[in-house]
Amino acid sequence: MNAIEVPPTWKQLQINQMAGTIVVIGQTDSGKSTFVRWLISQLCQYHERVGWLDADVGQSTLGVPTTMNLAVISEPPAQLPRPDATFFVGATSPRGHMLPTVVGVHKLQRRARQLGAGAIVVDTTGLVAREQGGGVLKHWKIALLEPTTVVAIQRHGELVHILTPLVRNPSLKVHILPIARGVNRKTVEQRMKRRREQFRRYFSQAAPLTIEYNRLPVYDLEQAGQRHLLALEDRHGFTIALGIITAMTTREMIVFTPARDAAQVARLRVGSLRLNPETGREMR
Ligand SMILES: Nc1ncnc2c1ncn2[C@@H]1O[C@H](COP(=O)(O)OP(=O)(O)OP(=O)(O)O)[C@@H](O)[C@H]1O
Ligand SMILES: [Mg+2]
Repeated sequence: MNAIEVPPTWKQLQINQMAGTIVVIGQTDSGKSTFVRWLISQLCQYHERVGWLDADVGQSTLGVPTTMNLAVISEPPAQLPRPDATFFVGATSPRGHMLPTVVGVHKLQRRARQLGAGAIVVDTTGLVAREQGGGVLKHWKIALLEPTTVVAIQRHGELVHILTPLVRNPSLKVHILPIARGVNRKTVEQRMKRRREQFRRYFSQAAPLTIEYNRLPVYDLEQAGQRHLLALEDRHGFTIALGIITAMTTREMIVFTPARDAAQVARLRVGSLRLNPETGREMR
C-alpha cells in the first residue's frame, strides 16, 4: 500500500466505538476507497473480523467492474485480499441498475455477518447527484443496511441533500470529513483505462466453456448476444465467475471464462455490458 496522508479529522474518529455497518459516501475522487482501506486496518485492532464491502461497480478495488465484492479479514491487509463473495450487478454504474445494487449490497452484508464480521465497512460509488438518483440510492441503501455510522467525505456541499435527514436520525452517527489533501482526481479516460485493465487481467486466464443453458434459469436472456458479459452464479446468487458470450444456439452457449467447470453453475445472469475478450474494452 502506498503511503497515505492521514488527516487529523480521521484521527479524531472514535474508531474503538465503531461496530456494525459503516457506510462511506462521497463523490468520485473524494478519497473514499483510501479512507475505507485505512479504516479497515484500524478496525482490525478492535474486531476479530472486519468486512470490507466494496460496493463500487465502476471503480472497484476488490474485484472487477460490474461486480460488488466482500472480503472478511482479521488483520490489516498488506495486499488486496481475495474476495469471499462477489455479486454481479451487470453494469459499471448503478444508474438504471438500482435494484441489483441494493439487493447485492444487502446480500453481501448478510454474508459478512455470517462470516463473523463485527464491523463491516461499505465503500460506495461516487453517484451522489440528486438529479441522477444519487440521493435515492444512498437513502434506500441506508434504509436497508441499517448502518450505525455514515462517513461522508464532502468537497463543497454536494452531499447536503443526502445528509440533511440523516443527521437528524438519533440512531445514526454521521461524520462529515473534508477531502484529504493528497487526493488525486482521475479523468474519464483514466477511469475507462483502469476498467479495461481490470477486465483484461481477469480474462487473461479465460478459455471457452460450453454451457447448456436451456436447463438453467437465465436472467435477462433477451439481452444476451455476442460479447455480452454474464455471471455464472451459485445457488445463493453469488458469482462463481464472469464470462463473455462468444457463440450461442437455442440450447447452449460458448462462454469465454476463467471458470473450468459448468457443473457448479446454478444460474446465469446476463449483464448489459459488451466486452472485447482480448482487450477488455467496453463496446457500445
Ligand atoms: N489520504 C490520502 N493520502 C494520499 N493519497 C490519497 C488520499 N486519499 C486519496 N488519495 C489518492 O487520491 C486518488 C483517489 O482516491 P480514492 O481512489 O481513494 O478516491 P475514491 O473517492 O475512492 O475515487 P473513485 O471515485 O474512483 O472511487 C488515489 O490515487 C489515492 O491514492
Ligand atoms: Mg473508490
